[in-house]
Amino acid sequence: MAAKHKTSLWHLLCRAGVSYRQGSCYSSRYVAVPKVLQGQGQSSRVPRRDTHTLRPDVGASYRELYDTSVQDPDTFWGSIARDRLLWSKAFTQVQNCDITQGRISWFLGGQLNVSENCLDLHARRNADRVALIWERDEPGTELNITYGELLETTCRLANTLKRYGVQKGDRVAIYMPVSPMAVAAMLACARIGAVHTVVFAGFSAEALSGRIQDAQCKAVITCNQGVRGGRVIELKKTVDVAVKTCPTVRQVFVAQRTDTRVPMGRLDVQLEEEMAKESPECKPVPLDSEDMLFMLYTSGSTGKPKGIVHTQAGYLLYAALTHQYVFNYQQGDVFGCVADIGWVTGHSYVVYGPLCNGATTVLFESTPIYPDPGRYWETVQRLRINQFYGAPTAIRLLLKYGEDWVNKYDRSSLKTLGSVGEPINHEAWEWFYNVVGEGKCPLVDTWWQTETGGICISPRPSEEGAEILPAMAMRPFFGVQPALMDEEGNTLAGNDVNGALCLSQPWPGMARTIYGDHQRFVDAYFKPYPGHYFTGDGAYRSKEGYYQITGRMDDVINISGHRLGTAEIEDALDEHPDVPETAVVGIPHDLKGEAAFAFVVLKDNVSLSHSNIHKELKALVSSKIAKYAVPDDFLIVKRLPKTRSGKIMRRVLRKIAMDQTGDLGDVTTLDDPSVITEIVDVYNQYKSLSPKS
Ligand code: PRX
Repeated sequence: MAAKHKTSLWHLLCRAGVSYRQGSCYSSRYVAVPKVLQGQGQSSRVPRRDTHTLRPDVGASYRELYDTSVQDPDTFWGSIARDRLLWSKAFTQVQNCDITQGRISWFLGGQLNVSENCLDLHARRNADRVALIWERDEPGTELNITYGELLETTCRLANTLKRYGVQKGDRVAIYMPVSPMAVAAMLACARIGAVHTVVFAGFSAEALSGRIQDAQCKAVITCNQGVRGGRVIELKKTVDVAVKTCPTVRQVFVAQRTDTRVPMGRLDVQLEEEMAKESPECKPVPLDSEDMLFMLYTSGSTGKPKGIVHTQAGYLLYAALTHQYVFNYQQGDVFGCVADIGWVTGHSYVVYGPLCNGATTVLFESTPIYPDPGRYWETVQRLRINQFYGAPTAIRLLLKYGEDWVNKYDRSSLKTLGSVGEPINHEAWEWFYNVVGEGKCPLVDTWWQTETGGICISPRPSEEGAEILPAMAMRPFFGVQPALMDEEGNTLAGNDVNGALCLSQPWPGMARTIYGDHQRFVDAYFKPYPGHYFTGDGAYRSKEGYYQITGRMDDVINISGHRLGTAEIEDALDEHPDVPETAVVGIPHDLKGEAAFAFVVLKDNVSLSHSNIHKELKALVSSKIAKYAVPDDFLIVKRLPKTRSGKIMRRVLRKIAMDQTGDLGDVTTLDDPSVITEIVDVYNQYKSLSPKS
């Protein structure tokens, strides 16, 4: 796709109220590569060693390729990595993994630069090809950013970071709205070997500060404000509060998203002004395959959020390959993943996968219902989106508004639909497939995790025309070998079985460690089922041998596709001076998939009214984590059901919260079973006061 109207990032930022030195709005020249090579990333420096023919584009069947990928992963991944990535130095060993120890290394001895693969490679071929379409909050105000423009912006930003002392290996927090500057910030870090940690711009100051502290970030990149759903979000204010408790932060770089000037303090640097002083070129630093690329904090069942670490080559290759094959992305397509860049979906399928493939990728800044529930489909029509990738929670919300909001708009550009983040229920799947896609586009339910780097189980890739069953992730991607385990840790053979979902073989995209705590990484993922990576999810293998994810097996809940440990919410609630103990469980929710339900024990003689306590507890969760983490229900109880060894029996609380009090299962191990009647009575009272439809 060529630029519709050529808009440099400089121009658009100028329009957003930033003044530049004269001449800073750029013009650049790019050196064309003499021969446009087939495929994505053939190296111009390292000669191709194309002796293998196991590329997924040579006509072998999915089954054959899959079998090779698991039986001979070195040949499979080695040949694809040589073929598709631009290497500064060829790797000498495809992998050195021992998953019993949590040791995962791919493409050893090799060096490359991710930003060069995502930008320079494509800019050299055609600098005017559109890299990003920034679908800003107000419909109809989208901006196209070409590969040439994004490369220049990235280089200027990288040079700015360098000038302020950010070096290879330093961590940089990015707290920004979905925007080209945020993408440039990620790629600028990648260009100089700094490690980015993007924090979702909906997280509170305290959550942001916790992540910055854990990662010991040297710098933060943010915006003055964000704009979403017609509302202004005070990002810089949040950062100001957060960095007060972050002694490692030396600079806060502030980009301008709106015209509003915000107070600037001792650490603050106006980003665009500094970038304007910089050279538009910045040599990409060759990095070892296993140098860190980024970390992303995600919730586990215990403790604080963990910094999941991804490295350079393996992650990039896996994101790019899955992007192409799961969605059947073709050169020239407009790829529309509406996730926020603060989540792993945004990393892999808004930024790294599409850009590595030279795609045009949409940055969606708004919400599904702004200014009305037709927003997604109006955007599809206006931008001629070919692949649309979103979350079930949004689909469930939109289907309630009816089909007219969809039918109003031309969706004939759509070729593939995708769903991610949580199980998609049948009703949502059918609506997405039949109403949005008019039954013409394959709908891929993609299962994966922050830790897996990219999609691991999904109906595609498979032969054209192979069956896709509704609401099922179905088939493993190349190199992924699922196993289901029983409670004793035995691998379940055959079909029509339910078990703990493990992946039995390393693949290049998998996480390498938890930042600063490798033992936690080993304990969480590799100890439960020795010799396997444990996902934390349960799954069913159908009679046909397809996989269906049944949900988390641990104390992690999934609210609107966002993962959260119940322990994190409890920790926030327990900070209330009148609250000695709480238990939070996840229960099904029509729109959000799951919602948090909190059981709260109060100290004796608390003077505050229950409604005031509720208000304070809500405010606590919102300020300690984020608004989306606030429980929908609070039930004040005298005590919690505990086993004789003192463990809270959450299973019982979940049943009560789901109004299934007639079937509580085995409660014989409870220290005092009478607690159940107590809680059920309070619950029934609560229900009668706030009946739910
Ligand atoms: O429980 C699974 C659920 O989301 C978890 C991973 O969350 P996160 O790391 O935040 O990444 C979300 C985006 C990849 C998984 O352990 N999950 C994700 N996709 C699906 C899913 N559950 C069912 N079906 C899916 N397609």
